[in-house]
Amino acid sequence: MRSSAWWHLSRLALAAAFTLAIPHNGAAQGPGAQVTFTRDVAPIFQAKCEACHRPGSIAPMALRTYEEVRPWARAIRARVESRQMPPWHIDKTIGIQKFKNDRSLSDAQIGTILAWVDQGAFKGDPKDMPSPRQWASDQGWNYAARFGQKEPDLIIRNQPWTMKAGDGNTWVKRSVPTGVTEPRWVRAIEVRPSTVKGRKIVHHANVDIDQVEPDGTVTVGRFMEWAVGKEGELMRPNTGKLMLPGSRVAWDVHYASTDEDVTDSVEMGIYFYPKGQEPKYRQTLLAVGSSGSNLDIPPNSIVASEGFFVLPKAARIESFQPHMHLRGKAQSLQAILPTGQQVMLSHVAEFDFNWHNAYVYEDDVAPLLPKGTVLKVTSWHDNTAANKGNPDPNVWVGYGDRTVDEMNHVWVNVTYLAEADYLTEVEVRRTKVTQQQ
Ligand code: HEC
Repeated sequence: MRSSAWWHLSRLALAAAFTLAIPHNGAAQGPGAQVTFTRDVAPIFQAKCEACHRPGSIAPMALRTYEEVRPWARAIRARVESRQMPPWHIDKTIGIQKFKNDRSLSDAQIGTILAWVDQGAFKGDPKDMPSPRQWASDQGWNYAARFGQKEPDLIIRNQPWTMKAGDGNTWVKRSVPTGVTEPRWVRAIEVRPSTVKGRKIVHHANVDIDQVEPDGTVTVGRFMEWAVGKEGELMRPNTGKLMLPGSRVAWDVHYASTDEDVTDSVEMGIYFYPKGQEPKYRQTLLAVGSSGSNLDIPPNSIVASEGFFVLPKAARIESFQPHMHLRGKAQSLQAILPTGQQVMLSHVAEFDFNWHNAYVYEDDVAPLLPKGTVLKVTSWHDNTAANKGNPDPNVWVGYGDRTVDEMNHVWVNVTYLAEADYLTEVEVRRTKVTQQQ
């Protein structure tokens, strides 16, 4: 009894000490300091949430003002703590950790948000509120400003398509001429639904390029892959994709219906290198690891599958984009070097079909791999009732286009390097790393 009273007293004393410890200038410092929306949380939300959580964008609610945010405090706490929001599913404990497009929260930012909710989600002094963040119009092109342009250099549109409310999944495949009349090097590509409503029906869009190379061979290769959540593709310096005269793009768009009729035509925006500026390296997008028709996922089971690809030349790996459907659980990309050494490049432990993020490696960590390296993809599918996204754990699932079928490949952007260039790049990297040490 005595000891319990003492315990209560000391807790009170502690609480009082913390209360007194709040600095009067209001700066959040140390344990117990009060976290406020206007001073501590709003700047984080402007930086990490508003891109999607603002009117007209893809998220269901805006998170700009205290009044907009306050009713969501509990949900925000849960989504932020579990790292479901912002959507960025890379495993932070393994593999490469530096990305050009990282939109995740730091541990400190997560700590601030959780503390704010736990303390009662206070507003704080309105004077601390940062001025509202200005956003380009909702249908703006993501990369135009970066290149000092209003629009991409070339926009290729697919024919319009109408999804009626309640329609099933539909795949629309069409071929469209690019209109390119001379070889042009591409430095960035964006694909997007052409309307805001279109975002509700366009699940993903694959764009292949179909063209005759100077040596007479016909390339049919992936040019760009877009799915909900993807900004676009920026080539690394001195690297590009090549478009040739007479080329065509083959669209393969996956539509899902919503609760109203929506018409949309997906469009692709292309930014060229200035004429005469020819990048040294050519980049290609590969689908690595697919089991194709061998994919075999029995009912009520968790299955791991593997796929391999041998690099025919030395290469730099530019990005990692997992691809599975509703049963997808986790996916990883490893490199098996010619020495036999196995290196984990990237792993996604909590795959979420709603988000097809492409994780783009920073310039100084994009893997440089020698000829003969094996890229190994491991995919885990969860076809049990424990997987909340699973439409039916009691059916067998195999490979196929529909969302209820499965896939198990990773999209990998690869830049092949001539042997001498590869050795130079490795040396440059080694020098940089040594200098940093
Ligand atoms: C890339 C776009 C994007 C970013 C960035 C983003 N969100 Fe979201 N958010 C969404 C979308 C779309 C949904 C609805 C689909 C879903 O629930 O996954 C959502 C849902 C949510 C929900 C659940 C709402 C509900 O109905 O329960 C919360 C909470 C949330 N986001 C909070 C945040 C916070 C906080 C941040 C920033 C720290 C953030 N989000 C960043 C797109 C985004």
